[in-house]
Amino acid sequence: MAEVMRAEHVSKSFGPVQALTDINLSVNKGEILGLIGDNGAGKSTLIKILTGFHQPDRGTLFVDGEPVQLKSVTHARSLGIETVFQDLAMVNDLPVYLNLHLNKELVHRPLPFLRRKEMKRRAREALDAIGINIPSVTAEVGQLSGGQRQAIAVARSVYSNNAKLLLLDEPLAAMGAKEGGLILRLLAQLKQRGDIAIILIAHNYSQVVDVCDRVNLLQHGEITFDKASKETSVAELLELVHAEYRVSTAT
Ligand SMILES: Nc1ncnc2c1ncn2[C@@H]1O[C@H](COP(=O)(O)OP(=O)(O)OP(=O)(O)O)[C@@H](O)[C@H]1O
Ligand SMILES: [Mg+2]
Repeated sequence: MAEVMRAEHVSKSFGPVQALTDINLSVNKGEILGLIGDNGAGKSTLIKILTGFHQPDRGTLFVDGEPVQLKSVTHARSLGIETVFQDLAMVNDLPVYLNLHLNKELVHRPLPFLRRKEMKRRAREALDAIGINIPSVTAEVGQLSGGQRQAIAVARSVYSNNAKLLLLDEPLAAMGAKEGGLILRLLAQLKQRGDIAIILIAHNYSQVVDVCDRVNLLQHGEITFDKASKETSVAELLELVHAEYRVSTAT
């Protein structure tokens, strides 16, 4: 299988806090990798490194086997790395359709006028394709519910047709059962396409085991567990995390 992204010996500190000590992780084309770990384990920090938002203190990232230094989120995006952040980067006072086109606005050439009608049409198409119920693409994002905003963020990232790696930091956290189900279905559809790699952070282990091909557990700044979903279970994942809790409370 073609490896899309690999992190080797990646570490990251914030002042005295060593968030990541020695991360080794890889994800292949056509694969959904579930990334789990306790609150504060460093999952979001790792995603932010893989998407160029943070630079690692040490270690190397490889995209399609080539070592890269991701300088910014824009740089990562130009390499086909798209991210839905946990703390969503949405502009609340812009309408839905402009949020969907953030940093990839369509303009008339040679004059820099926005092609609003076309962007509205494409926004509607993208949301309909996912099955997300948004009353109007001209509604301001600030007026939508948390789950609706989350859905738009996911739509925006998959909408970019050159995405080859999609990073999703708890996309299901604010979702109701129906919307969460739609997002999971969307991920399954993307996987069917076979040309994209996905890393999904989630706290619901049963969703992780259901939707992901492989699971990695992040503990003590390292990936301490790496198994195919069909070779593990919710019970095993819970046991791993609780075992750590028993050790840390006993000492
Ligand atoms: N910008 C920052 N400045 C300082 N410390 C940070 C920063 N970002 C993260 N940290 C710290 O790094 C550690 C890892 O945080 P991170 O957000 O990566 O955890 P997480 O696994 O995503 O947790 P959660 O499941 O709660 O989202 C925490 O101790 C956090 O306080
Ligand atoms: Mg997080």
